[in-house]
Amino acid sequence: MRSVSDAYAQAFAEAQPDAGRSVVRVDLDVREVEWEFVPGQHTRAWTFGGQVPGPTIEAQVGDVLEIHVANRLAEPTVVHWHGLRIPAVMDGNERVQNPIVPGETFVYRFRVPDAGTFWYHSHFNETVQLERGLYGALIVRVADEPVLDADRTFVLDDVELDKNGEIAAPGWWIESHDGREGNTRLVNGRQEPEIQMAAGQMERWRIVNAASARYVRLSVGGRPFQIIGTGGGLIPEPVATTEVLLAPADRTEIVVGPFAEGETIRVETLPFNRGSFKGHKKPERFATVVVGAAAPSKAQLPERLREIEPLVTGAVTPKRTVRLGFGLGMKHGVEFNINHEQHHHDEPVRIGELQVWDVINRSPVHHPFHLHGYFFQVLEVNGKTHDPLAWHDTVNVSAFGSVRIAWVADDRPGMWMYHCHILEHHAAGMMAHFEVIR
Ligand code: C2O
Ligand code: CU
Repeated sequence: MRSVSDAYAQAFAEAQPDAGRSVVRVDLDVREVEWEFVPGQHTRAWTFGGQVPGPTIEAQVGDVLEIHVANRLAEPTVVHWHGLRIPAVMDGNERVQNPIVPGETFVYRFRVPDAGTFWYHSHFNETVQLERGLYGALIVRVADEPVLDADRTFVLDDVELDKNGEIAAPGWWIESHDGREGNTRLVNGRQEPEIQMAAGQMERWRIVNAASARYVRLSVGGRPFQIIGTGGGLIPEPVATTEVLLAPADRTEIVVGPFAEGETIRVETLPFNRGSFKGHKKPERFATVVVGAAAPSKAQLPERLREIEPLVTGAVTPKRTVRLGFGLGMKHGVEFNINHEQHHHDEPVRIGELQVWDVINRSPVHHPFHLHGYFFQVLEVNGKTHDPLAWHDTVNVSAFGSVRIAWVADDRPGMWMYHCHILEHHAAGMMAHFEVIR
């Protein structure tokens, strides 16, 4: 058997840009800074490159990203590239690499194969490290993107600030059950900011839910908008709606506007019950759009955005059942598991073989199911047929509900994982790892 470091050296050397594309070098130092989540109030935050979120990493399909992560914290870290279909040894998790210890620099190098809205975040001591700010957006574009008047990225989060303005230490029973939902809602690292927008414009908004546990039922002042993408890039055609649910770690791409001069519009999360003790009975604001003078629009949203082939047509027998369960335990208060096992070791997956999995939630709370490194299609939700023509790496599985997914592993063998993306549930054992084999 080859060692992980051989596999790393090979993946490093094999990461070459497509013809005409380039190697994009990014330096990320991981360090503590004083950050103003709330204007005028200083909070010790942990950052990529001295800011929350970390710098937005931008690339074109076919580029190679070479990311040098220098750890200047007093504890180890690992960086995961959420949603990117890259080699296992570059995925950034504790199964495929040693943690980056204080003072050490680790280089991730991979070719980006897909356009879309992805993100990166710490994959070590996540309930502390993500909460303190170790996350950022990663945007990959292609040459023929739809033309809108602006292309903006909004990373949503919430933090729990104590009376000194510092991030509160992790809590016990309720927080280990619910996951942390903080008292301060953030967009791009600032509490409830104003977003300036010109009248008459249509903008593309890429939205990332980086919160530890909060579900965002996103509304833009109740106005109609169009969904054009999921976590795995564009969907076949725009879908008109007035709200979209973003589970933790999920992304959406929407087209908003046009609005009229002088309007102010609340970007907020609508009431949502995910089975937590702490409920949400009222809308809560993330930001306010302030609409200024009109500007000419060049927006042209095509009717067809992309072709996606269904992985499954007709009846299918699931290959695997993944049960999300919970119980009580000494270590975390509430313990979460998969198929009755914490940190479940699941069966291997063979490259090229259709995987149809039933993910069944045996608990009274929702869980966002996340598969590392591969996209899947959603075939059924709670026993009902679901439009499969969208790519996802994260899907909500509602309390006592179920989701049927389909995916095929392309040729990237190695150790992979799936888990609940509520960070406290992940920490309490609701995760599994498995090998992808040739
Ligand atoms: Cu977004 Cu295992 O992570
Ligand atoms: Cu969960």
